[in-house]
Amino acid sequence: MTNAEQLPGEVTPDAFREVMARFATGVAVITCAEGRSDHAMTANSFTSVSLDPPLVLFCVENDSRFHEAVTVADRWSVNVLDASQAGRARWFATRGRPLVGQFDTTPTHRSAVSGALHLDTAIATLDCRTTAVHVAGDHDIVIGEVLEMVVVGPEAEPLVYYRSRFRVLAPEGEHRG
Ligand SMILES: Cc1cc2nc3c(=O)[nH]c(=O)nc-3n(C[C@H](O)[C@H](O)[C@H](O)COP(=O)(O)O)c2cc1C
Repeated sequence: MTNAEQLPGEVTPDAFREVMARFATGVAVITCAEGRSDHAMTANSFTSVSLDPPLVLFCVENDSRFHEAVTVADRWSVNVLDASQAGRARWFATRGRPLVGQFDTTPTHRSAVSGALHLDTAIATLDCRTTAVHVAGDHDIVIGEVLEMVVVGPEAEPLVYYRSRFRVLAPEGEHRG
């Protein structure tokens, strides 16, 4: 049996999820302040778009609470997570978690640039201003100009998401081949 035969060729939602799960990503918590509340969402759709001007994007599900907040807020922050933060990534991906108090066990400080919370444990943070929102199926694509960015933990190991599980990188030469 070839590799191609091991997965269904038809583009069903389950097959699409299964195939996309083969694309390993980093993990970020995107934050914004809207009204009197601080909002957050775990995201792995974050990526860079343009160097000049510096643009990034993430995709946000239309019916999520974060969608409501970030499409009203003009500015937001991206917090890139390190390998120790899987629990936090799970928490900020939990639907129905309380809005008030959701940061109670997460050390944060407020960005003067975006007004959003930065996680103290982030490897890197980027403060962004929305420049465009594109409708794309059941998600919107939010594009933002990077206003400020900081590498907080230059030597930190990243949190990785692969096949629906959080993972850490193995040093080169230690993979199973
Ligand atoms: C690793 C991981 C990555 C995720 N990436 C995204 C994403 O890029 N966009 C998105 O809309 N939801 C993503 N989700 C799901 C959201 O985190 C989750 O639905 C959201 O936080 C629900 O809370 P809310 O409705 O209160 O906003 C991801 C979940 C996990 C576990």
